[in-house]
Amino acid sequence: MANRNLAKDARETCVLVTGGAGFIGSHTCVELMNAGYNAVIVDDLSNSSEESIRRVREITGVDEDRLSFVKASILDREALEQVFSTYSIDAIIHFAGFKAVGESVVKPLEYYWNNIAGTLVLCDVARAHGCKNIVFSSSATVYGEPEFIPITEDCPKHTPTNPYGQTKSMLEQILSDLYVGDNEWNVVLLRYFNRIGAHESGLIGEDPHGIPNNLVPYVAQVAVGKLAAVGVFGDDYPTPDGTGVRDYIHVVDLARGHVAALRWMAGLVGTGKPIGLGSMAGEPAEDGTRRGVGIFNLGTGCGSSVLDVIAAYGRACGHDIPYQIKPRRAGDIAENYAACDKARDELGWVAEYDLDRMCADSWRWQSNNPNGYRD
Ligand code: WQD
Repeated sequence: MANRNLAKDARETCVLVTGGAGFIGSHTCVELMNAGYNAVIVDDLSNSSEESIRRVREITGVDEDRLSFVKASILDREALEQVFSTYSIDAIIHFAGFKAVGESVVKPLEYYWNNIAGTLVLCDVARAHGCKNIVFSSSATVYGEPEFIPITEDCPKHTPTNPYGQTKSMLEQILSDLYVGDNEWNVVLLRYFNRIGAHESGLIGEDPHGIPNNLVPYVAQVAVGKLAAVGVFGDDYPTPDGTGVRDYIHVVDLARGHVAALRWMAGLVGTGKPIGLGSMAGEPAEDGTRRGVGIFNLGTGCGSSVLDVIAAYGRACGHDIPYQIKPRRAGDIAENYAACDKARDELGWVAEYDLDRMCADSWRWQSNNPNGYRD
């Protein structure tokens, strides 16, 4: 079956956003609404809140017609059939998946089942309804310990050190193979670096359940007084101040990268130079659309250390953030940050916000919502 070509006009395009109630998903829905798209969120709310969807509608002034919500798991074939039968889905932005690195080590079956099998069900139902345009939420974790930095998309992938990372790497391969088997598929793999921050309104943001595993949500809870001090996992790395260096990117910049990916699929942006697998590599078709696999890093190209982040957050909240040096965390790498030339040249996308802005927006969300969406 042929694939649906994306319209040039966003207002004629309906995007299925799996996991759209989550941190990146909700911010992406804001940018989709701002760009004129229609969207249908499918989310099982296992790690998110419906309140985030209400707030996205509040921020953007849209109603349920422009931004619909269906509570369902991507494993629920019947529910997905209903969604594709009810809405004319032109493209998918696929966020839904379990994403806690540590948890994935102790629950591999749940992670492979939900993330891999769920994606297979999603693609099977989408294909049956003539939709083969998918933007996938991948991660810099597929590079493992990078062979060189800044990391380009050609940097070899390494075996991830945990099942979560394995699901990202495997799904990149699966989605690429869909194109190899059927050139009607249109796949964009977005490899996120460390996404932090929040929408400037302070209405939506990261809302981790339990003690945060990641640095910035942990720092945020220390800043607001919910936790006592930040544990800095190692200060003996070969980095400028000895602490781990990462490429932190504002979640709004990241969200805008997804809109750019849809515009690329529609042939609205792009150089036409060979950049990926298949005809995605070459000139768009007569009507401007493309087919194939495009892979893009979404980062800032700047590395910041743990201590840089703690200092920036202190500036944002107006007081020092207490911390203690702790032993290294197993599986951590010393340093990674992205080369972002390809996204700039092909997608016309560049991250705009710096670390201070990321921390200021994160603090506004955290201080206005100390208990996240449970307030
Ligand atoms: C960042 C730095 C830590 C917590 C992970 C996943 C990746 C992606 C983003 C989903 C490191 C240090 C952390 C703390 C600390 N997740 N740190 N104290 O490990 O780079 O990436 O989250 O897509 O796939 O691997 O992010 O925020 O956990 O750590 O010192 O309490 O902060 O050692 O140097 P990471 P992180």
